[in-house]
Amino acid sequence: MSRNIVYVGIIGAGAMGSGIAQVAASNEQGVILFDTNPDALTRSKEKLEKILARLVEKERITEAKKVNIEKNITYATDLKKLVVADLVIEAIVENIDIKKQVFQELETIVEEDCIIASNTSSLSIASIASSLEKPERCIGIHFFNPAPLMKLVEVIPAIQTSEETLNTSIEKIKSWGKTVAVAKDTPGFIVNRVARPFYGEALRIYEEGIADFATIDAAMKQIGGFRMGPFELMDFIGNDVNYTVTESVFKAFYYDPRYKPAFTQKRFSEAGYLGRKSGKGYYDYSEGSINPQPDTNVDTQEGIFNRILAMLINEAAEALFLNVASAEDIDNAMTKGVNYPKGLLAWADEKGIDWCVTVLDSLYNEYHEDRYRCSPLLRKMNREHKTFF
Ligand code: NAI
Repeated sequence: MSRNIVYVGIIGAGAMGSGIAQVAASNEQGVILFDTNPDALTRSKEKLEKILARLVEKERITEAKKVNIEKNITYATDLKKLVVADLVIEAIVENIDIKKQVFQELETIVEEDCIIASNTSSLSIASIASSLEKPERCIGIHFFNPAPLMKLVEVIPAIQTSEETLNTSIEKIKSWGKTVAVAKDTPGFIVNRVARPFYGEALRIYEEGIADFATIDAAMKQIGGFRMGPFELMDFIGNDVNYTVTESVFKAFYYDPRYKPAFTQKRFSEAGYLGRKSGKGYYDYSEGSINPQPDTNVDTQEGIFNRILAMLINEAAEALFLNVASAEDIDNAMTKGVNYPKGLLAWADEKGIDWCVTVLDSLYNEYHEDRYRCSPLLRKMNREHKTFF
């Protein structure tokens, strides 16, 4: 069973809240966008106007559609305006105490059966839900940045979440043209967990002196078909932001060495070498700068690619083993949420499960570190000659 969602409330008019408002309003949904800061609302409105004007210019939408989308959004500095909402998605600062406080206040305003969702990237949905009188109406609805462009939305039921809340949320998000991946309420959900080795193993390879940034990036792009190499991507995301996510996932997993952050990234972050936004990261972005050329030795590049891919596959397999999500959702999450060229489990099938086990075991034999332990699922599948799909 699921209920009809007419009005969507959004709390927080920053990067994510504004993007989610655009998605909902573009799908004929009435939106009330709330922020305590009126300047944030003004900025959000102006930015949307620019984005939509560009879409009209490129003939992706008509002028009438632009007007309609803008008309669908009401801007509010009073939380009480969310009284009409059937679904509220919160996208404020990533702070559990502030989120809980806002949820408690919200619950006194909205109807009994209004769904209350959080766009959190890293906090536990069970903990957020516990702030509510009716925690069964709470759920994680995690969009990716920029929300209007990224196809994937992770939907995360907490242990308290009702079936109705889950089903209604999935149906609604799908009706907005998004691909839904349902994830267990565990640190990093799917994408922010499974993607960790892309950065972590690349940093480790660099720290061992096996190759420089440009060579590692070239290996992942040229052999793997990734759109960006790990260092280019970290520079794009920002070393401060990417380091913080890594550290929070590491802590949340009780310091499992698979997620251990790298000193290299911490130092780059401390030095202010944040990436594109600061003009310098692993690469120099100042005008006229010349960045180093990759080592084109095929064996070196293949060794790097195989090692990072095997670690990514291991992480995806472990997520499946621990029932974080289905195999389909894990693969969809990586192709639709972070544009991986292939789903990791499909990639494992293609390479052969025996190949994955051999690469991981040889890393483990070399280092004797828990970080390189092969997932029991891969080992079992290899014994039984099984594939993921
Ligand atoms: P942001 O900093 O761009 O925007 C946050 C907005 O919330 C600001 O406009 C601020 O005025 C407002 N705000 C703060 N406290 C408030 C309160 N008590 N009541 C109402 N409004 C309040 O943040 P961003 O990047 O949009 O992130 C928001 C949430 O989305 C966080 O939980 C974050 O973890 C999550 N997220 C962020 C992604 C990203 O790439 N930026 C991706 C996916 C999720």
